Amino acid sequence: MQRQFPATRMRRNRFSDFSRRLVRENSLTPNDLIYPVFIVEGEKQRQPIASMPGQYRLSLDELEREVEELLALGIPAIALFPNIDAAHKSLNGEAAYDEKGLVARAVQRLKAAYPEMGIICDGALDPYTTHGQDGIIDDNGYVLNDITVAALQKQAQVCAAAGADIIAPSDMMDGRVGAIRTALDEQGHINTQILAYSAKYASSYYGPFRDAVGSANSLGGGNKYTYQMDPANSDEALHEVALDISEGADMVMVKPGMPYLDIVQRVKQEFGVPTLVYQVSGEYAMHMFAINAGALSEAVIMESLMCIKRAGADGILTYFAKQAALQLRTP
Ligand code: PBG
Repeated sequence: MQRQFPATRMRRNRFSDFSRRLVRENSLTPNDLIYPVFIVEGEKQRQPIASMPGQYRLSLDELEREVEELLALGIPAIALFPNIDAAHKSLNGEAAYDEKGLVARAVQRLKAAYPEMGIICDGALDPYTTHGQDGIIDDNGYVLNDITVAALQKQAQVCAAAGADIIAPSDMMDGRVGAIRTALDEQGHINTQILAYSAKYASSYYGPFRDAVGSANSLGGGNKYTYQMDPANSDEALHEVALDISEGADMVMVKPGMPYLDIVQRVKQEFGVPTLVYQVSGEYAMHMFAINAGALSEAVIMESLMCIKRAGADGILTYFAKQAALQLRTP
């Protein structure tokens, strides 16, 4: 008697490599990648970050070398994050808008040497405050919104004047995108873009980053629950994104990445604007420690990035940018 075989065999399209490539729905290219880089004062500094194996804090001479490599790999942009000497930290983080500060000098130097590399400057005070909060605090430690926004305006102006292409406020103060837009326009920086960290959650996945920029000790047992979003919320992310777009954001971001891909999908479907995703330090650390222990194969790196694209990301800030671009180059 004839056995009943399935008429539809899903495995047919998966049989050959050519066919798998042909039916592939999403793709990853170096154009999708933004590399976050940590910087420090000094020369010939390449300080390893213990909680992020393979990542370093670079002095500006080393940063130049790094950028040359990134350009050769086809990576379109970098995001700069400074580790500031304790001597330059203060209660109100004034060094954030020092025209001769580390970030301003880094941007000037890179723009002189490699003008084609896109440079993203973070908008937040945490690398500069003695308490490690992203803004200016009152006597109870509460982060004050409006005076923080005024500081962020100055920070954005200094970064733009130094040559930054994109200002990326990561502070989660209310109204900061509109205020930064106004501050930039007032000084003629009408084409400086704003990448808003719109749906930024109060996440424990940021731990290694705080080691890298040196804000972990300052923050101590503190948290950012009064300004970053509750991981339990999803509709609220759409509200945040809507506000940032109405205030003039050119691109929006969801952060962290992998545990928040439902948010990425909703944001992209609802608004259809350029939507970036930050695969954060903790996600990087999880992968690297597992790979280094032999528990996972390196293939998880590309899988993780592809999954972020599939969810709707137009671009990904990832500490894996170099590895990924290298792999994408070799067929
Ligand atoms: C701070 C900032 C953080 C990150 C980017 N900008 C940490 C925080 O909010 O405490 C996290 C990035 C990462 O974990 O890789 N404004």
